[in-house]
Amino acid sequence: MILLHAFPLDGSMWGDLGTPIDYPGDGSLADWADLVASRLERPAVVGGLSMGGYAAFELWRRHPASVAGLLLADTRAEADGVEQRDARDRSAELVRRRGSAELFDQMAPRLFAPHPDPAVVAQARAIAARQPTQRMVAMLEALRDRADSTDLLGTITVPTVVVCGSHDAITPAAQGRAMAERIAGARFVEIPGAGHLSALEQPALFAAAMPAG
Ligand code: MLT
Repeated sequence: MILLHAFPLDGSMWGDLGTPIDYPGDGSLADWADLVASRLERPAVVGGLSMGGYAAFELWRRHPASVAGLLLADTRAEADGVEQRDARDRSAELVRRRGSAELFDQMAPRLFAPHPDPAVVAQARAIAARQPTQRMVAMLEALRDRADSTDLLGTITVPTVVVCGSHDAITPAAQGRAMAERIAGARFVEIPGAGHLSALEQPALFAAAMPAG
């Protein structure tokens, strides 16, 4: 399976769960989707977690013939509102002034289930900390400027699994379940003992929820 990572991370977050294709380093989520499509030799099952899910929506919007199935994890179809867009700009400023690890530390309480495994938090922090400032800022701008994908939900015709950590504070499980109900035939799987970064916190349960391919 092709896997698209979350912010503020990169494809190394996936371990051995699949084949990552990383955000290219600048440009929009549509640009990332175009890159994914250009790398595929045949239609593929594509999974994205949070920001990766936003990019998976762009792939479906722009290159539906490339998509054999979808895994939408801890993500949402809605675009950012005004407050979220302002928050993206504040986050970019923080990264420019204080670095990527500082932004991760501010986000961390909302990324994991209560009382997370310190090794998992350290793993995620290490990935975030090595992201160059320019890449972080570009990802924040891509998140800020992404299109609304709610109208796409009813157009999805490939087998789809929606996954969400039961403690996800950023894209709550109830929201994931509601999104799954708007996709014809989609299956919803809640991952216990996981917050937003469900694939890192509970990789075995996440793997069990992944569609074949
Ligand atoms: C992510 O995990 O990719 C981010 O939380 C997405 C977001 O901030 O909208």
